Amino acid sequence: MTRRCLCPGSFDPVTNGHLDIIARAAELFDEVIVAVLHNPAKAGSFDVVTRVGFIEDALAQSGPYSAPVRVVTFAGQLLIDVCAQVGADAIVKGLRGASDYSYETPMARMNRHLSGVETVFLAGDPTWEHVSSSLVREVAAGGADVTGMVPEVVRTALMS
Ligand code: PNS
Repeated sequence: MTRRCLCPGSFDPVTNGHLDIIARAAELFDEVIVAVLHNPAKAGSFDVVTRVGFIEDALAQSGPYSAPVRVVTFAGQLLIDVCAQVGADAIVKGLRGASDYSYETPMARMNRHLSGVETVFLAGDPTWEHVSSSLVREVAAGGADVTGMVPEVVRTALMS
């Protein structure tokens, strides 16, 4: 039986912390589906096509991975419905610290309550503990060098 997991997020933009979680998910599952959330009610920083392009470029540069990884987008849908559509057995999330735990556990419990889909939490590598999409965007906008925090394609876009 193929064990397939979903790595969901906004990925606005993808960071090296995200890529670490995707790579580690590929060690644990037979197939990884990266699901990019597009919330029509919320304008993102990068549009969803650009975010997907960043992830696909970064995966091509940093692979090969232990299992196939593909990227999908979803808009205005519940995560449990996306899991059902793509046949995902589990959701994989990285936790950088206590605030991620507080944010993620109610969603994990709700998703399991509603659908039975389990969420697997991976302890974020401390290398990326301070790296979030929003902070990277903020410091890059202020002129800081984000080399090593994000894939090169993202660094270039943030600097332009
Ligand atoms: O990268 P983010 O912004 O932390 O990702 C959050 C995301 C997209 C995983 C979460 O907001 C989500 O699952 N949204 C889909 C809508 C949904 O299912 N909401 C109910 C959660 S219990």
